[in-house]
Formats: sequence, C-alpha cells, structure tokens
Amino acid sequence: MKRLFTLLLAIGLLACQQQVAEKKTGLMADSAMVVTAHPLASQTGVAILKKGGNAVDAAIAVQFALAVVFPAAGNIGGGGYMVVRMKDGSVATLDYREKAPAKATTDMYLDKNRDVIPNLSISGHLASGVPGSVDGMVEAHKKFGTLPWKDLVQPAIDLALKGFTLTSREANWFNESRADLIKYNSIKPEFLLKNNWKSGDTVKWIDLGHTLERIRDNGRAGFYEGKTADDIVSEMQRGKGLITHEDLKNYKSVWREPVTGIYKEYKIISMPPSSSGGVCLIQLLKCVEPYPMKSWGFNSAKTIHLMVEAERRVYADRTKYLGDPDFYKVPVKELLDDQYNDERMSTFNPDQATPSAQVKEGKIAGYESEETTHFSIVDSKGNAVSSTTTINGWFGSKVVVAGSGFFLNNEMDDFSAKPGVPNMFGVLGTKANRIEPQKRMLSAMSPTIVEKNGELFMVVGTPGGSTIITSVFQTILNVVEHGMSMQQAVDARRVHSQWLPDIVVPEERAISKSDSLALVKMGHKIVLRKNIGRVDAILVKGGKLEGGADHTRGDDTAAGY
Ligand code: DON
Repeated sequence: MKRLFTLLLAIGLLACQQQVAEKKTGLMADSAMVVTAHPLASQTGVAILKKGGNAVDAAIAVQFALAVVFPAAGNIGGGGYMVVRMKDGSVATLDYREKAPAKATTDMYLDKNRDVIPNLSISGHLASGVPGSVDGMVEAHKKFGTLPWKDLVQPAIDLALKGFTLTSREANWFNESRADLIKYNSIKPEFLLKNNWKSGDTVKWIDLGHTLERIRDNGRAGFYEGKTADDIVSEMQRGKGLITHEDLKNYKSVWREPVTGIYKEYKIISMPPSSSGGVCLIQLLKCVEPYPMKSWGFNSAKTIHLMVEAERRVYADRTKYLGDPDFYKVPVKELLDDQYNDERMSTFNPDQATPSAQVKEGKIAGYESEETTHFSIVDSKGNAVSSTTTINGWFGSKVVVAGSGFFLNNEMDDFSAKPGVPNMFGVLGTKANRIEPQKRMLSAMSPTIVEKNGELFMVVGTPGGSTIITSVFQTILNVVEHGMSMQQAVDARRVHSQWLPDIVVPEERAISKSDSLALVKMGHKIVLRKNIGRVDAILVKGGKLEGGADHTRGDDTAAGY
C-alpha cells in the first residue's frame, strides 16, 4: 500500500516535462573569470584582478564584498574553506572553519532527559561558533597576497558606507526574515531599518562599514581584539552565548594538506577534514567510475540509481568516520582507497534499491572505533581559487553583533548534538563529530579544483548543506560524462540522496516521468524539492574560460575579461 502510494505520488508530482538543459555556454573570457553569488562581488573581484592582483587577492576582496552585499551568507561572522592552485601546479587548502567556544560541552543542547532542545543550536546566541573568516583572509593574504591588504578590504567598505542597491531576491530575503531578526536581536540592527525592503532600494550598512575599516587598518586585531571583539562579547552576554575574548584571541585558521583523488584522466583537489566534502566527493567518484554512465545518460533512472546507491554508502561512512582531525583520527587514506570503495559497491544491485537500514559504514582495518556561498576565480596567469564560506543557516544565528553590524553564524548545529538525532540538514553524527571545546564542527563544504592531464580544468563549489557534496559530484559528472558546457552543468536539474533519511530528492523537472517510475519500481522513495545548491564554477577549454553562474537559483553572476 505504502509502495503504491509512493508510486502514485511520483506519477502525480513528476508528470511534468523533464528539463532538457538548453544548449548554451556561460560567459566566455580570454584571461580571467570571477563567479560569485552577487554581481557586485563578481565586479569587485574583477577590479582587483585588473589592478594586478592575483586570484587569492581577488578572493579576499570577494569574501569581504559578499559580507556587505549578501549578508545572508557572505560573512565576517562565519567561516569557510579555500582551495588554491597556483599556475605552477602547487596547491594549498586553508581551513578557516569556526570552532566551538572553550565553554562548549558535548551535552550543551540536551535537556535533563537528554533530549535535544529544538532550535537551540540553530537560532540565537548559543548557536554560534568562534568566527574564522577574518583570520582566514589574513592567512591567505600572508601566504599568497600580492596587493596591499588595505586595497582588498576597501571595496567592501565603499559598498557598505557609500551604499549599493538591493536586488529583488535580497529585498525579499530581508522581508521574510524580519520576524526572526526582531526576535533574536534586543538592539535593532540596521537590517531592520525599513519595514518593507524593495528591489532597487539603496542601502548602507554603517556599523559594518566601520568594522571593515578596523579590519582594514588593524588586520586580525581589527576583529579578534578591540571594539569588534568587545561588541561580540557584549552581544554574547546579552543573549547568554559562550564566546569570550579568550576564544577570539585563540582562534587560528589552519593550512592543511589537500585531499586528492583520480577519476579517469582527472585529478580532484579538494578540502580535507574538518570538511567531509573532499573525502566524500572523491569516494563518490570512485564508487561510480566503473559504470558506463555516459551511455546511460544524464538523470536516467540507471544513472540516478547508481549515484544514489553510492551516496547511501558514502554518507553512512561520513556519519561514522568524519570529524575534526585535530580531535578525532579520521581514516582519510583508508576511505579513499580504491579497493575499499570497490568493496563498498560490491553489494550494489543494478535493479534494486538497497534500503538504507541495511547499509552501515564500511569496515576499516585496525580502526577504532541555506547559509553558505561559493565563489570560483581564475586570474590571467592561471592561478585559481575555489572557496566556500558560510554562516550556516540563512542569516546564520539571526543575531547581529550590535555596534559592529554583522551576523553571527549558527555553525554549532553542524555538530552532532546527540548520536542518532539529525541536524537541520538531516545528517547524523557520532563520536567523531560530537561537541568538544575548541573543536571544529564537521562540514560538507567542497570547494574543489579539477585538473585534466596536469592542467587546470575546472573550479567548482556550491552552498547547500549536506547537498553540497552531491551537487559538486553531479556538476563534475555533467561535464566529464555528459558532455555539458559549464553553464549547462550548473543549470542542469539536480538529484540528492544521503543515506538517511532513505529518500531520493530531485529538483522539480529533474527526472522524466518514465525514469521516476523506474526508480520507484526499484524501491526508491522520491520526494521533490524546489532548488538544490547554487553552483558557481569555471571551466578551462581551448585556452578560454567559461563561467557557469547559477543565475536561475540565485543572483549569481560571472564576470571576466
Ligand atoms: O558546513 C556545512 O556543511 C554547512 N554549514 C553548510 C551550510 C550551507 O551550505 C547552507 N546553505 N544552503
């Protein structure tokens, strides 16, 4: 009966035309390209490149510009990851993920019956980790920057203090979040100055502009010490949060060894833990590599079934084994091993879904046991940056640091508050990702760079919580298996699955009626969703750059020359 219902649901909901990606390419450029979630941030990046800055200089300027023009996700109150590939082929990855405050405890979101208290890790002061973005930008500049620091922060200051116009999406987002912003802020932030924001309104964020001036003039100390730090700590005291002056002073981002893996003639360079992104992405590619997806076709039942079966196994591993490597021994090498992934897929049945209840993490020998934004940049020399940054939920914890004018993250929700209880993205965790003081919460962010035959091929990433990994996975496959242009690969409808809950989640019009029926017959449960991810990517082809900007799902824009 249940099966019949699912079948009928699938027929009813999917009886619309499957999207056939239009034949088109994105913006083409000869020298350099910046693709971000906002036209003004993309223009800021291009201006820095034209001034002679490299891709990392542009990335720093974009990070600060996004904090102003796209405050729902762009940030100085959050954290992120950056993957850099310089023109000589050298690579580096920077982890500027937030950390749990020193006063955080494993059980901090549980009531006396040890049940998770709803919303405590999602909204309000207790939801925030210690921000990493400003330290991350300072570290990136120290290692790779070529233009003066001040020149990279100034464009964001100008946007904040001289003003810019709101897009209609942004105006709506502010209006829709109004009640939450009122609820979680005792001192009215500038974002609430108007009752009803409209597209084309000119806005100035004066407090944020002055905070950026302190960062411009004092670097790290402009955020982690002095007035900004005082404002953060006072904000914490007003809302019974945990972040202290000591936490801020102690925050350090970390350069880590990238994770790499080979898929056919492509080399994947991505983020290691504390993100699960790179490990899971490479595992997924290894799991599907032996199968002829190209002949099965884009989003056919066979292709989706294969991807979903790989995803179940990989997300089960994620739940068990992935966490902050500074606190938990993550078996990265073992998880990326070819034989291990072959073994994981040995139970794959091409005709039948494996119920997630029957899928556990793999055995590792000797082992004890919406909001985010991504940008991709390539400069005229061929240096590339792939960076994803976040305050986690839309407008983060909804708390604005009074006097300093920026949103704080709600990244603490990315920890596992209790084994077996899903977080806001429905993902589970165990000891590997339990809360511990000063630990980084596990991420799915997957800023990635792909090489082909040793040359730069693609720069790619997206927001989307747990769907990040599967969106990046599909975008790569869309180009390398399904022959799409970068823009088509970004526009193409996506399908997500993550082991638990045991469902397949396509965007509307992602799967044809007959393919959805075939999937339901195999035993998959299908639940539609409007949008998955906002991929911003760059493809190198024939000596030119193609920008793929996700402008159907957001304000994302490519700019290049
Ligand atoms: O780090 C993570 O995986 C999440 N905090 C990302 C959140 C996100 O992508 C929200 N955007 N839709």
